[in-house]
Amino acid sequence: MITLEVSLGERAYPIYIGQGLLSRPGLLRAHVPGQRALIVTNEVVAPLYLQTVQQSLGDVRVDTLILPDGEHTKTLDTLSLIYDKLLQERHERSTTLIALGGGVTGDITGFAAASYQRGVNFIQVPTTLLSQVDSSVGGKTGVNHPLGKNMIGAFYQPRCVLADTGVLQSLPERELKAGLAEVIKYGLIDNLPFFEWLESHIDALVARDQPLLAEAVRISCVDKARIVAADEREGGVRALLNLGHTFGHAIENAMGYGTWLHGEAVAAGMVMAADLSARLGWITPSEAKRAKALLVRAGLPVVPPAGVSVEDFLRLMAFDKKVQGGKIRFILMRSLGKAVIESGIDAALLEQTLEAGEHLCEI
Ligand code: NAD
Ligand code: GLY
Repeated sequence: MITLEVSLGERAYPIYIGQGLLSRPGLLRAHVPGQRALIVTNEVVAPLYLQTVQQSLGDVRVDTLILPDGEHTKTLDTLSLIYDKLLQERHERSTTLIALGGGVTGDITGFAAASYQRGVNFIQVPTTLLSQVDSSVGGKTGVNHPLGKNMIGAFYQPRCVLADTGVLQSLPERELKAGLAEVIKYGLIDNLPFFEWLESHIDALVARDQPLLAEAVRISCVDKARIVAADEREGGVRALLNLGHTFGHAIENAMGYGTWLHGEAVAAGMVMAADLSARLGWITPSEAKRAKALLVRAGLPVVPPAGVSVEDFLRLMAFDKKVQGGKIRFILMRSLGKAVIESGIDAALLEQTLEAGEHLCEI
């Protein structure tokens, strides 16, 4: 087992990474301070892993809540089901909420933990690659609004993150690939050696080589923990973690939440960011193509959906949380492996990127 730390002073917490951790005696139990807990999971994950997690909690009185599955359920209505359960079972402030599942479960449960009785203990047990490398770490929680992705939420850090890399073997292939998009993102943000490592190992990662997957989770979490520790509430550098997300969130919303997976939308969004960076002359066309090629090898979409027009993109991107003073801020690439936050992008260049379609990065 590898243990990392998210260094946030009194809110610091460990990330445990390794195979078979769900059933490791005492590991989760040590982070449940009271006598009660509610495990929130969903209809897909429950039959696979709920019993194992429940058993690992020993003497804790555990309730369980099985939510419906899917990005389209990341809503205020689903959030209410958690409050209903907590109140029906008379959970007090000393309770612990445990999110067992992917990013959707983690984000909703985290927001319930942040708001139930003004905040209760929270643990993340991420079971998708995407949630192990990104959403379970850093304390962003929340739900979608019909007008914008993740628009309602809170920063609320978990007490620990337990990432059992063994559970990645049961992930559907499309979900594994969506997680690889966020892994590749770390290489593009500020870790060129990791990007190059991924170029060497992407085929084995897609084939679910267990030690390599664990290493990819470890490096991603090291990078994420470092950036979050530097800027917990996204006053600056944390926005770099949104590489590909300004375009990606617009795709997710335009297509209907869940039609494109989050990681898929981020993949196409990162190709659009690479394309725009090349048009600005910051990276070379061949570097942009190199970024796109790695995403292609990971089996990810690199062309935005034809049905989303330039006008759709511009309208939806105006709802992004990075908009400041009405100006869209983009995360772009100053060089390969060095992302920057940039507003005031030339509208004509942006339009060229939005219109490029399957010719993205052919500059
Ligand atoms: P998800 O939670 O929908 O999980 C993907 C699918 O895999 C679901 O059908 C789920 O039931 C299933 N599943 C989960 N674990 C499984 C397993 N081990 N075996 C088989 N099936 C399994 O999606 P996701 O990709 O994990 O997360 C995407 C969400 O995360 C989006 O809503 C996105 O906005 C959010 N996100 C949040 C942050 C953050 O910082 N909070 C960061 C990135 C993404
Ligand atoms: N996924 C973006 C962040 O955690 O900041």
